[in-house]
Amino acid sequence: MENKRSMKNFEFKNPTKIIFGKGEIKKIASEIPADARILLLYGGGSIKKNGIYDQIQTALKDFQVQEFGGIPANPEYAVLKQALTVIKDEKITFLLAVGGGSVIDGTKFLSSAAKYEGDNPWDILDKKIPTKKGMPFGTVLTLPATGSEMNSGAVITRAETKQKLTMGGPGLFPVFSILDPSVIKSIPQRQIANGLADAFTHVLEQYMTYPAGAKLQDRIAEGILQTLIEVAPVILKDPTDYEAASDFMWSCTMALNGLIQKGVPTDWAIHMMGHELTALFGIDHARTLAILTGSHYTYNFNTKKEKLAQYTERVWGTTEGSLDERAKIGIEKTVTFFHSLGIETKLSEYTSDYKGTGAEIARRLTERGMIALGEHGTLTPTDAEKIVELSY
Ligand code: NZQ
Ligand code: ZN
Repeated sequence: MENKRSMKNFEFKNPTKIIFGKGEIKKIASEIPADARILLLYGGGSIKKNGIYDQIQTALKDFQVQEFGGIPANPEYAVLKQALTVIKDEKITFLLAVGGGSVIDGTKFLSSAAKYEGDNPWDILDKKIPTKKGMPFGTVLTLPATGSEMNSGAVITRAETKQKLTMGGPGLFPVFSILDPSVIKSIPQRQIANGLADAFTHVLEQYMTYPAGAKLQDRIAEGILQTLIEVAPVILKDPTDYEAASDFMWSCTMALNGLIQKGVPTDWAIHMMGHELTALFGIDHARTLAILTGSHYTYNFNTKKEKLAQYTERVWGTTEGSLDERAKIGIEKTVTFFHSLGIETKLSEYTSDYKGTGAEIARRLTERGMIALGEHGTLTPTDAEKIVELSY
């Protein structure tokens, strides 16, 4: 019988080199091979307004560089296919992603697709083909949130079929990522709030399960949550606060670089349902998580209440009441935290067209074979339907 109280066996390898700090963007020059044919990838143009593009140009002045801009938030397959053509035509050998999760994820897809031998690169997503070796790429992170700068996962959107699918594999870690917290000063409030909520939920997905006898993982997770709670009001008020920006940026990376999930059960049901909300309504990724978290924990109260109570005590410092009462307080505190970031937590606050969403998400999860979600693998699409309905 499974012993729920002892750490599981695990392996851990994270090969991404992190270069952290103010003014460090210039170091891309010493991390990229001198003879590389580089494709610089970026999003809608924020990097041209905030000086990041200029720093990259200066650093890469002695390199052969092509550019591909216009990767949209929720990186779109049709756009990425155009970039893939550039990679092939220009015989690119190294990719440099300069942006947030969307640009980095798009670059991961390209890293994989550039080396893919099949006919249809969409199969990498649709048929869940893991990437063992991709084209090497580095990143310059401009938006702390997803942790994509130090993990090997990506999420790609296809508008024509309203799909948003995940991919990954050991070949998709960035070779290096530059984390300069001073990039935060140009990020709009809404995206800072998204980053805080996304990273917070990443920790919750790997923590809010059942006690697994992994004291260190628990305490690192709680430490990241506490740090995000502490810096959130500071960074929202003043994104030029370098101290808060540093804590925010490093917390987001640590939340999803693989470390805290080692040896413990993980959930990820909130993300799986959330990706469908983005695919259906275009709601920002982080906001879909804020919509679902309270309902998910309320619906799964009995299986999660021990960890919920521990979270209330250790992260929020509330020790009064019975275990059930403390667990309930944890859910309330979480929802209040999202509100404090200016994030609404009901689906009806984002769309008036929400009726039937629960059933539609259940249908989509079934279609994808996602019929056993959660840390116990016991959540069916019917459960997901009810959780989404609780979120209306
Ligand atoms: O496109 P530009 O003009 O650069 O503007 C972006 C974009 O509009 C802007 N921005 C980024 N850095 C900025 C800035 N604006 C001013 N100053 C800066 N320094 O912010 C907007 C949003 O960017 P985006 O990259 O979409 O945000 P985020 O980092 O939140 O990424 C979201 C995507 O990542 C996926 C999500 O599903 C979503 O597609 N995720 C990836 C994960 C992973 N790879 O591990 C895990 C996550 O759970 C998530 O699913
Ligand atoms: Zn996320």
